[in-house]
Amino acid sequence: MMFEWKPEYASGIEEIDRQHQKLFVLASDLYDIASRKDGFDYHDEILEVFNALSNYTVYHFQFEEQLMKQQGYNLKDLAAHCTEHDNFINKMKKVAQEDLDKMQRKVLMDVVLFVVDWIEKHILGSDRKYVTYHFQQ
Ligand SMILES: [Fe+2]
Ligand SMILES: [Fe+2]
Repeated sequence: MMFEWKPEYASGIEEIDRQHQKLFVLASDLYDIASRKDGFDYHDEILEVFNALSNYTVYHFQFEEQLMKQQGYNLKDLAAHCTEHDNFINKMKKVAQEDLDKMQRKVLMDVVLFVVDWIEKHILGSDRKYVTYHFQQ
């Protein structure tokens, strides 16, 4: 597995950590398929895992946004957080429509690296802010 879960990703909110871990597993699966060099075409499998990652991301973002709302998280911070989520979803949609068609190994690797980098920064940045708030309640 290429993308390991690191202890510093842990928030202490059990369900959130479980969901974040699942995002890494799906990104890692995608990377593994893209890394195969046996000459076979994994188009269907790549699409399947990419869609699973996209769908799970949408689910996770909704879950998080709901949690922030329930806890009365600051509206300005909530809006900024949702914007980050929305931008990422839009990027994933764009990749699905344009880049994934090309199905080049390089394109796919770039996508996976972008996704993992984004998830990592988001978990350690914006997510950390609401987690801090969560434990102050
Ligand atoms: Fe998150
Ligand atoms: Fe988030």
